[in-house]
Amino acid sequence: MNEQYRFVVVANRLPVDEILDDEGKREWTRSPGGLVSALQPTVRARHGAWIGWAGGTGDAPEPFELDGMWLHPVALSSDELDFYYEGESNATIWPLYHDAVETPAFHRRWRQAYWRVNQRFAEAAAELAAPGATVWVHDYQLQLVPAMLRKLRPDLRIGFFLHIPFPPVELFMQMPWRTRVLEGLLGADLVGFQRPGGAENFLRLTRTLLGLEPDGDHVVVDGRTVTARAFPISIDVAEMEQLAADPQIQQRAKQLSEELGGHRRLLLCVDRLDYTKGIEHRLKAYRELLAEGRLSNRDVALVQVATPSRLRVAQYRQLRERVEREVGRINGEYGEVGLAPVHYLFRSYDREELLALYLAADVMLVTPLRDGMNLVAKEYVAARTDNTGALVLSEFTGAAAELSDAFLVNPHDVDGLKQAFVQALETPPDERGARMRRMRDQVCAYDVTRWAKEFLEALGECDRTAPR
Ligand code: ADP
Ligand code: F6P
Repeated sequence: MNEQYRFVVVANRLPVDEILDDEGKREWTRSPGGLVSALQPTVRARHGAWIGWAGGTGDAPEPFELDGMWLHPVALSSDELDFYYEGESNATIWPLYHDAVETPAFHRRWRQAYWRVNQRFAEAAAELAAPGATVWVHDYQLQLVPAMLRKLRPDLRIGFFLHIPFPPVELFMQMPWRTRVLEGLLGADLVGFQRPGGAENFLRLTRTLLGLEPDGDHVVVDGRTVTARAFPISIDVAEMEQLAADPQIQQRAKQLSEELGGHRRLLLCVDRLDYTKGIEHRLKAYRELLAEGRLSNRDVALVQVATPSRLRVAQYRQLRERVEREVGRINGEYGEVGLAPVHYLFRSYDREELLALYLAADVMLVTPLRDGMNLVAKEYVAARTDNTGALVLSEFTGAAAELSDAFLVNPHDVDGLKQAFVQALETPPDERGARMRRMRDQVCAYDVTRWAKEFLEALGECDRTAPR
């Protein structure tokens, strides 16, 4: 038997993606999304194993070591990519759990692929975990893994964390196989959510759908106690502060400001190109401010970094077209030669360039329609070590619960967005500094190491027997 591990993470994606060039030469790039940013330091520190998909189809690459982590790729066929990843995960569950801001689609063959792939992940975890090991399963793509894994390996301590919102009962009830999802999650000893409301919805559903009797933050199922609680995720503050102090990155930030026109103030947006992120509402608000003369292209520039994401899913392709049309419209109507109102960057960046952008930004605009947490907001705050800058933040992000000193907005209210953009720019430096200081205190006190520690300690303390 191969080596087994005391700590195993199971997530849809590995922290790196396999890229094959035309000659079949392999390269690895950092995977997109907040989950990877948050988990990497924890797995590295514990020398754990990480089970996940490497981003391609067909045979999985051989397992390998990276930065002190043992990476174990799981294969997906091209049908499974279509049905499990793009279909069930990202065209059914993703929109449903994000308040159905796009209409979820329900297809039986998608969910069958989801069951099959979840079983494959559970089997990989069962093989790799040492006796009595801790296995931490992540996110909406793998909600059946806890129960499948428990069946294979009842000796394991199993945790599950949902990175996205858990929906209200009425929305969850739309899912044709809702009971199975709930039973899947109940295979864990500890189920973690971003917000207390998620845990409450989950526990309420165990009563509605399974007739169980939740009590406080736990529920007894098949003679086992399952705990459900909120553990708001965070970021690697030390990494952010270290990068922010790097003279080369500071120099790059200065250069970026100069390239944008020197005195123009920078409004920065960094999102995966996803309809939950509220990109269209934000651009509309910005266009109206330019049209009304409340902002001038001579004084401000907006940079929209849009990380390519799920581009084979129809809703994402359509979103890209609409966003790019709107960017073209704003630049066409309000730009001048050498002075574009919107700089649209459709690509991934390394951490250094991202940090330089955070340092150059006078105002960070984070305005999702719905977001489990939003790590970009926390990263920006952590990077502003001199307490300058301002954050405009949607009320519908998990981050808003902790960052109440941001300029909070309802992203559906375009007038409210406009007001908040202007307010963030015009608020006197003293008040902006005080707000940023309080937000930094919050983010620094509760970083990703503390998040992981609290979750894993709570998992270790779970009393798995039913109360007598
Ligand atoms: P989500 O998980 O929905 O993508 P988050 O804001 O929680 O949203 O996390 C996004 C993560 O991806 C952050 O850690 C951010 O630094 C990183 N990121 C976002 N855009 C880019 C980009 N263009 N290049 C590199 N990293 C990015
Ligand atoms: O929780 C957000 C999330 O879905 C993660 O599971 C994932 O790592 C990230 O967004 C990026 O999405 P994808 O893996 O579909 O590219």
